[in-house]
Amino acid sequence: MTNSSSLIFNQSNHLSGEIDIPGDKSITHRAIILGSLSNGQVNISNALLSEDCKRTLDAFRMLGVKISLNNQKISIYGSGLHALSKPSAQIDAGNSGTLARLISGVLAVQNFDSSITGDQSLIKRPMRRIIDPLTDIGAVIASDSGTLPLSFTNSSIRPISYKSSIPSAQIKSCLILASLFIDGESTISENIITRDHTERMLQYLDYPVAISDKSISLSGGGIISAKDIFVPSDISSAAFFIVGSLIKPNSNITLKSIGVNSLRTGIIDILIKMGADIKISNSRYISNEPVADIIIKSSKLKPINISGDIISRLIDELPILFIACACCEGVSTIDDIEELRHKESDRIKSMEEGLAILGIDVETTPNSIKIKGGDFSGGIVNSYGDHRIAMAFLIAGLVSKKPITIIDTDNINTSFPSFIDILKCQNNEIYSI
Ligand code: S3P
Repeated sequence: MTNSSSLIFNQSNHLSGEIDIPGDKSITHRAIILGSLSNGQVNISNALLSEDCKRTLDAFRMLGVKISLNNQKISIYGSGLHALSKPSAQIDAGNSGTLARLISGVLAVQNFDSSITGDQSLIKRPMRRIIDPLTDIGAVIASDSGTLPLSFTNSSIRPISYKSSIPSAQIKSCLILASLFIDGESTISENIITRDHTERMLQYLDYPVAISDKSISLSGGGIISAKDIFVPSDISSAAFFIVGSLIKPNSNITLKSIGVNSLRTGIIDILIKMGADIKISNSRYISNEPVADIIIKSSKLKPINISGDIISRLIDELPILFIACACCEGVSTIDDIEELRHKESDRIKSMEEGLAILGIDVETTPNSIKIKGGDFSGGIVNSYGDHRIAMAFLIAGLVSKKPITIIDTDNINTSFPSFIDILKCQNNEIYSI
């Protein structure tokens, strides 16, 4: 695990063998939240124990839930939906947008007051997208300018009937979680379907949820059964090593038990269209999520043009996809990506700046990027405290002729604490400065 804020990728080696990818971040957050609201003991295995997920553990401990951690296994002792208690202090979501937005759905409908804040990056990210639909059903939420901190005051709440115009699983999940506590049936619909881990996990835990096309309906006050949950390994973390082994000659890696939920596998579909040698095997379901092993061999990639609904199926993989595009001969265009401006950094801006510093021709508009493939020249790039930007440029280091220095890399620990160790174990020379 790195504690340094800057890293230099000096000498690179090809990637080979089996690489251990940690548990899925989105699913770990949900397992902790739903386990805390369940009716008994929930053991979570292969959970991601990163900074973001530890914030979720701390938040539910503050809400009175007993949680223990043993050999990477989380055990949560739920006492049902109505057992949460008023936290003695403000909840701190750290860097985690998922925690902030999902837990807001829970806090807004409790019969006690509470408040939540986050770090310097999270307090700038938009929260109006959850404040508005929660306020529409009677929640009382104080916020200075539609951002954190948010304060929740006990109020009387009506069922939800909401159609989200922003493709966001965080908005959808916030409202699904609120619905659990509301008398009567709530319905949440979306224009573009987003990751469905919350719905799937509720169904796995025997909670009645009706799903039709792009709508989810559920009634509050039911029982969430306590069952063991296996968290698949994170396709979003795997994506860095998938692209790394595609672009680095002579690579051949195997990734086991990766979550291959079709609402997350846009990156695999697009890379295969670009000419990637990717094989999926041993497909199965665990805890109601599809899981498979993935074998990747170095490949010559072709440029790609993408836009529209596919974007929500690879939203977190766009920074590393841009690195893949920079390694193709020809121009790639990726459109309809405005949401990238609201992530841990403005990812269109962070990637545009870093790619240009490394000698790649890049053009952007408010919602698109055009990348002309070329050779990375080496240089100093800033991740702007964004884990996925830092990891994307470290993967670029695998094929750069000269060293790449990445400034501000601590945040890798929010999603992938073992990332640097894996690269080093593969004989890549990475120094802290
Ligand atoms: C997430 C949803 C996505 C994604 C984020 C995790 C989730 O965010 O980018 O990393 O776990 O629900 P949006 O809902 O803002 O698109």
